[in-house]
Amino acid sequence: MNFNLTVLPGDGVGPDVTAEAIKALQAVGKKFGHGFYLENRLIGGAAIDAEGVAVSGDTLAQCKKSDAVLLGAVGGPKWDDPLNKVRPEDGLLEMRKYLGLFANLRPVKVFPVLVDSTNFKPEVIEGVEFIFVRELTGGLYFGKPKRRWQTAKGRRAVDSMAYSEQEIERIVRVGFELAQRRQKKLISVDKANVLESSRLWRQVAVEVAESYPDVTLEHMLVDACSMRIIQNPKYLDTLVTENTFGDILTDEASMLAGSMGMLPSASLAGVPEAGVRIFGLYEPIHGSAPRRAGLDMVNPIAIILSVAMMLRYSCALEKEAQAVESAVEAVLNEGYRTYDIMSEGKTKVGTKEMGDLIAGKAGG
Ligand code: IPM
Ligand code: MG
Repeated sequence: MNFNLTVLPGDGVGPDVTAEAIKALQAVGKKFGHGFYLENRLIGGAAIDAEGVAVSGDTLAQCKKSDAVLLGAVGGPKWDDPLNKVRPEDGLLEMRKYLGLFANLRPVKVFPVLVDSTNFKPEVIEGVEFIFVRELTGGLYFGKPKRRWQTAKGRRAVDSMAYSEQEIERIVRVGFELAQRRQKKLISVDKANVLESSRLWRQVAVEVAESYPDVTLEHMLVDACSMRIIQNPKYLDTLVTENTFGDILTDEASMLAGSMGMLPSASLAGVPEAGVRIFGLYEPIHGSAPRRAGLDMVNPIAIILSVAMMLRYSCALEKEAQAVESAVEAVLNEGYRTYDIMSEGKTKVGTKEMGDLIAGKAGG
């Protein structure tokens, strides 16, 4: 089969890791006889410098007509001045909104061989495997009013955590659908003891639950959830939460897997179904790590695992997705580590060598 993909390497380490993801993708394509046709475009700071906007209309249109989009990372100190009119992150947010990608799936998996590379006791994290469904096009990120202004008493600013019942319902449904295929336990994370938007969220979650009598719904306050993630992560299976909570909790959860460099993500416009191709944007959860850019240093596994998610959801190529995931696991089992997951007695490699090793196995 043939697929048209848009590739947005972005800023900082984005291009470093994206190159390795492409290697793995092409290796799998060669092995299984698929053609992946790639169009490169700019996003974030790179786009601001070259095109004057964080993402151009042309790039958005190009993404829309592709089968899937692969993104590296955006942002960096060069564009960070709080007074700037346009910021690299705007490109990513605009893309998510424009493409209607409201469902962000962030699986957290602890590879057995990496247990020693984490800050946790083996008995706490061995066998941990859960998934966050993060709402991606609403809440504080997009709610209005959102602005900064001058008053007689000084400066003020506001962001709004706004949700409609429709926005809540569709994301909670994604949570239930996934939970139904997993342990039939859905945890809805909110702050209903304080926030009005969370009280609506909880009410809607309870209503949606009626359509899923086989799934147990539990509500967890976001502060308790952040504690539970490190206290007893094995308790977790499928979680659904709003945009900002999901952003924060998944960075925290990545530490269970050893590093931010291990967590992939898929942003979709609906529920993924086995065998059905769904458009999506695939990106690692980590940022652009500007200080490490171009040093052949960072871990490309998060974006390589994102490619596996792309193969699974946007290409409906399950075998090929598993080939990528098995390749990652095999290379880790052989003891290769980037700096972020390095531990005693292992072989330290850079971004490119890690990418070559994984592509070699994925295509071998
Ligand atoms: C993420 C990132 C983004 C977000 C940034 C880069 C805008 O942190 O994907 O988690 O906050 O969503
Ligand atoms: Mg984040």
